[in-house]
Amino acid sequence: MLDLPPDEFRSAADAVTAAAAQFLAELDARPVFPATSGEQTAAIFGGPAPEEGLGSVAFEDLALVAAHARATNARFFGYVHGSGEPVAALGDLYASVLNQNVTAWRSSPAAITIERTVAGWLADAIGCPGFAGAFTSGGSMANLMGLAMAREVRAPANEEGARPALVYASEEAHMSVPKAMALLGIGRANLRPIPVDDDFRMRVDALDAAIAEDRTAGRHAIAIVATAGTVNTGAIDPLEDIARVARDNDLWLHVDGAYGAPAALAVPDRFTGLALADSISLDAHKWLYQPLDCSLLLFRDTAIARTTFAFTGDYARSFATDAVEGFAFFEESIELSRRFRALKLWLSLRYHGLARFREAIAADLAHARLLARLVQSEPALELLAPVELSAVCFRVNDGGDQAALDRHNAEILQRVVRDGRVYLSNATIRGAFALRACFVNHRTTDDDVAAIVAAVLAAR
Ligand SMILES: Cc1ncc(COP(=O)(O)O)c(C=O)c1O
Repeated sequence: MLDLPPDEFRSAADAVTAAAAQFLAELDARPVFPATSGEQTAAIFGGPAPEEGLGSVAFEDLALVAAHARATNARFFGYVHGSGEPVAALGDLYASVLNQNVTAWRSSPAAITIERTVAGWLADAIGCPGFAGAFTSGGSMANLMGLAMAREVRAPANEEGARPALVYASEEAHMSVPKAMALLGIGRANLRPIPVDDDFRMRVDALDAAIAEDRTAGRHAIAIVATAGTVNTGAIDPLEDIARVARDNDLWLHVDGAYGAPAALAVPDRFTGLALADSISLDAHKWLYQPLDCSLLLFRDTAIARTTFAFTGDYARSFATDAVEGFAFFEESIELSRRFRALKLWLSLRYHGLARFREAIAADLAHARLLARLVQSEPALELLAPVELSAVCFRVNDGGDQAALDRHNAEILQRVVRDGRVYLSNATIRGAFALRACFVNHRTTDDDVAAIVAAVLAAR
């Protein structure tokens, strides 16, 4: 019997919530990276599957998992990774218990309706009313879907296969963009990297020139990918100007807002032109504080999504004539079986309200500005890029040539992470190795920001 009687489930759930509550209570006291090695984790978690079950003893080892996990606490600033909003975590538990397959309305009436509703809420919240959307596992998948739509509209490939086609994106575009080009059969070599200005924003004059040159040479272009919040520095490409170029040249405009787009809730003026996109990626597991995974692809035209993604086997065809009851996500996205990703965000948004999210994002922006000021006021530190959103790139500069500085800062980063008080990641800024702190963390306080400078100086 695999099933659990209701009272056994309740006591098991109590044990898990107790372990989770303990983890959260101790989170800020935990080292950001566990003191462990590959050999140790293999010894603990490797080995054969048990032939006989352990029963409730199995739950006891959850604490071991936590002890060997990265603690994404208030001083975790690596990559674009927050602390995981706890109400949303409860939503994930409930979503798993409900075990909905969010394929079509008839498979899951509430889940389908909630996902479509939450997509609409986010579209409205970032100033893109009328956009529809589908939740995905992450920004990489959302970018892949956005470019798949671009390809199907401008260089149809679903029947006969793909052919090379050009896509323009800035040099600072995320690695998921060339990856999508490869997977879509368009080819990575056909991604035209457009130079950036001093603020790491795509240069529209260079974009114009590249498009004109390719047209003269008879090359076929299909899309521009603008980034609203680059992974390295948080730069926002000039969306309005890029949208004009896209329109003038009949190119699809995909905006990679996986990291930055949620900030349109707090600072909408910086995202002027976002609503002119054809498709937009937005990761709720980045700057809406959701536990992984929870990303959204928004798009303007559902008919194009259906042209791109619908290929329905007879066994999945709907008999409904009602537009709501006949709706199927598998006709507007890559996936067939899909988890109920929107539930946690629905719960989290209803529990806290949009205003709290705006405040949390504004606090992250303020923390980034604070770190930039602290770096600038410390003679041994050097700010390496302007702070547009919440990513701060800097380095220790005690003198020496570029190679020595790069080596020194790479060593400092490793020491900081090993020390366990603060987690930073790195970026390459104009060829230089940078320490990078990214604030998408609702637990962070001003003291945690100050801890970054202290940890880096101590690791010199
Ligand atoms: C700008 C940008 N786009 C796309 C992605 C990819 O998102 P994911 O890791 O959710 O696939 C990231 C991740 O950091 C990002 O910063």
